[in-house]
Amino acid sequence: MSNWVNDRMQLQSSLGPIMSHRVPLRSRWFYVFGSATLTCFLMQILTGIMLSLVYVPSADQAYQSLEYLNYVQPLGWYVRALHDFFANAMVLMLICHLVQVVIFAAYKYPRELTWIFGVILFLCVAAMAFTGQILRWDQDAYWGLGIGASMLGRIPLIGPYAVHLMLGGPIIGGETLSRFFTLHVFILPLTIAGVIAIHVMLVLKNGISDPPKAGRLVNPATEREEYEERISGEDGTTFFPTPVARDAIFSGGLVIVVALLAAMLGPNGPNGMPDPTIIDTSPKPDIWFMSIFSALALLPPGVETFLILTSPILLIAALFAVPFFSNSGERHISRRPVAAILLVFIFMVYGVLTWLGYKAPWSPKMEAWSSDETPITFLQGRPPIALIGAVAFQYKQCRNCHQLGGIGGERGPELDTVATIKTSGELMRQAIQGGGNMPTYGHNLSSTELTAIVKFLTTLHPDTESPAMIPDKSLNPKN
Ligand code: HEC
Repeated sequence: MSNWVNDRMQLQSSLGPIMSHRVPLRSRWFYVFGSATLTCFLMQILTGIMLSLVYVPSADQAYQSLEYLNYVQPLGWYVRALHDFFANAMVLMLICHLVQVVIFAAYKYPRELTWIFGVILFLCVAAMAFTGQILRWDQDAYWGLGIGASMLGRIPLIGPYAVHLMLGGPIIGGETLSRFFTLHVFILPLTIAGVIAIHVMLVLKNGISDPPKAGRLVNPATEREEYEERISGEDGTTFFPTPVARDAIFSGGLVIVVALLAAMLGPNGPNGMPDPTIIDTSPKPDIWFMSIFSALALLPPGVETFLILTSPILLIAALFAVPFFSNSGERHISRRPVAAILLVFIFMVYGVLTWLGYKAPWSPKMEAWSSDETPITFLQGRPPIALIGAVAFQYKQCRNCHQLGGIGGERGPELDTVATIKTSGELMRQAIQGGGNMPTYGHNLSSTELTAIVKFLTTLHPDTESPAMIPDKSLNPKN
């Protein structure tokens, strides 16, 4: 039977060289993360196809179709959990793979292109993680989109157009979801599959970089020959059977652990309908993006826009530039102190920012200051509509970023006397449109809430000082 197939497919000639190509003998368990990432990707395709059988990528049904998967479809919850856990495992394995490559300086000659395509894969996987979280179409998704849009919107000149392109319109709506669905299900996976093919081909052509030895330098003129010599001798072995088995054991173990975790911990969300009337939620980004949130919260306003626009570009450019900066010389980490320090530094910053994300002054945990009372001086003698506004101000989480009487988040300005500097028209525009780092509330406030909040805000001035005047009648709230 196997001969029959082999005769027709000529497997021997295509698989043979792969199985018999030589790989380094030592430090073997360090080499399993690449194939483990690939395993996760295959699991994502499998579970993703299953999910797509039920998931409805339309704004008014996406959320319900996830609930259907969670509660009605037999084992639907488990497929969702698997997809979520393998997504996280994939990012984790990819990071391990990346760290191993950096520690081994495996990007040096002749593997510069392998690294470049690896970086492209890294960016695509990050994009998968982001677009996937949007498909959940819950409060978290809304929040993530809002922040993404507000970052894009800062780009000079083309900002508004970029936001329009990302959201498929001026606001987060059905078009937005279609866009992210297409990216997540067609464009990104196909790109990833294609780039993986190139990446793996390059790995086969150039061989796996062997463990570095202090003092043994990479010289592009002689490296290939020396490498061949090393791994064709005692320092190398054929890919089949032992290294293949090691990859299989690690990937198999990973699949079992992830499948068990998924079964024990269940699916992620959907966390609250993106519905303005449901306020009992605390939107937060998935863990990999938490650091971006804290960076947004902690950067001083003066340099914020500058850093938000430049740092992603610089970071990505730096990643691509690594092998061109240093493609020869020492590979052993003990002789590359700058690389070692950078690696530790980057992970520390990322880790600390992620941790702070859960406890920043403006925290993505939106209920943070909801239970603090509004000081009585801001309520006394106000008309009922302003009091309703005060309540809405509280439960719409405005306090999460704005202090009243010194209590509340510090993301936005204190609003104690805001009526002296803003007219009611301006206050209304601010509440609807946000801007300058304040989320757009337009869709999350009913017209009553909006009117009431603006009424409340217009009362926020000292008794001795009159509120700002309304220069333009058309800006005057109708009520
Ligand atoms: C995520 C944090 C955040 C939340 C939540 C938030 N704001 Fe803001 N808000 C800001 C920031 C930041 C600014 C400053 C914007 C700027 O500099 O242009 C601001 C500005 C304002 C201003 C103008 C203040 C001034 O001194 O000019 C008003 C009024 C305001 N917000 C009202 C609200 C209301 C009402 C809500 C709730 C519906 C709210 N904000 C929720 C962050 C927030």
